Amino acid sequence: MSTIAIIGAGRGLGAAVARTFGAQGFTIALISRNQRNVDQLAADLSVDGLTARGYAADVRDPKSLTAALGEAAQDLGPVEVLEYSPLPQKEFLRPVLETTTNDLAAAIEFSIYGPVTAVKQVLPGMRSLGRGTILFVNGGSGARPNPKVAGTSIAFAGEAAYARMLHDTLAPEGIQAGQLIIPGAIQPGHPTHDPDILAGRLWHLHTHPDEFRVFADDMPPAA
Ligand SMILES: NC(=O)c1ccc[n+]([C@@H]2O[C@H](COP(=O)([O-])OP(=O)(O)OC[C@H]3O[C@@H](n4cnc5c(N)ncnc54)[C@H](OP(=O)(O)O)[C@@H]3O)[C@@H](O)[C@H]2O)c1
Repeated sequence: MSTIAIIGAGRGLGAAVARTFGAQGFTIALISRNQRNVDQLAADLSVDGLTARGYAADVRDPKSLTAALGEAAQDLGPVEVLEYSPLPQKEFLRPVLETTTNDLAAAIEFSIYGPVTAVKQVLPGMRSLGRGTILFVNGGSGARPNPKVAGTSIAFAGEAAYARMLHDTLAPEGIQAGQLIIPGAIQPGHPTHDPDILAGRLWHLHTHPDEFRVFADDMPPAA
């Protein structure tokens, strides 16, 4: 069985990604800060016949993230697919002139150091498998800076650059990196922004290694 690690596994997109990849035979490692949340989600997925386990880690705490991913690989096998989609904190969503250096430091820990920590931990396992997929999920400010949400605009730009460099560097090894951009809010029942539809976009990226970036929908016109 292949293993997917979902970093930022909540009831919205995280759960939909778990169900989408689980339906394709993946075993699922669910990672978020709260052990009770991921244990409950794992239990719900198990009722539907999926194999899932929860691990607690804060993406802003590299030690906890490394430990959770290491434990997941020991329990479930090497991580073949890494999906990075923790929900950004509200401090990252302040207007540019109200954003402090502390806000930015936190956003950069969240969106750049977290991904680098996670990739460093899972890459040896992907190399041992000879294949792997690394998926990043960002809002519209990941594709175009938005002065209303400065923290994500700045930090997502770094995350996108890291993702693109991984895409270009790891392709010869059969390891791909891709990014899903979601302009606007995730909304159950919406034709393009429903969590299951978005999880399908991530499955598309997983199965189309030449593609780097997909959009949930057209970007709104620039202000
Ligand atoms: N929601 C939207 O409207 C929207 C719009 C555009 C883009 N996105 C993107 O979609 C993804 C989130 O999807 P979602 O909103 O449906 O979320 P979700 O999968 O329902 O939940 C995300 C989970 O991230 C976890 N998390 C938050 N901070 C964390 C941290 N520091 N370390 C580890 N885990 C953390 C939270 O669990 P704990 O509290 O247990 O840690 C939360 O349950 C993100 O990539 C976001 O950029 C969301």
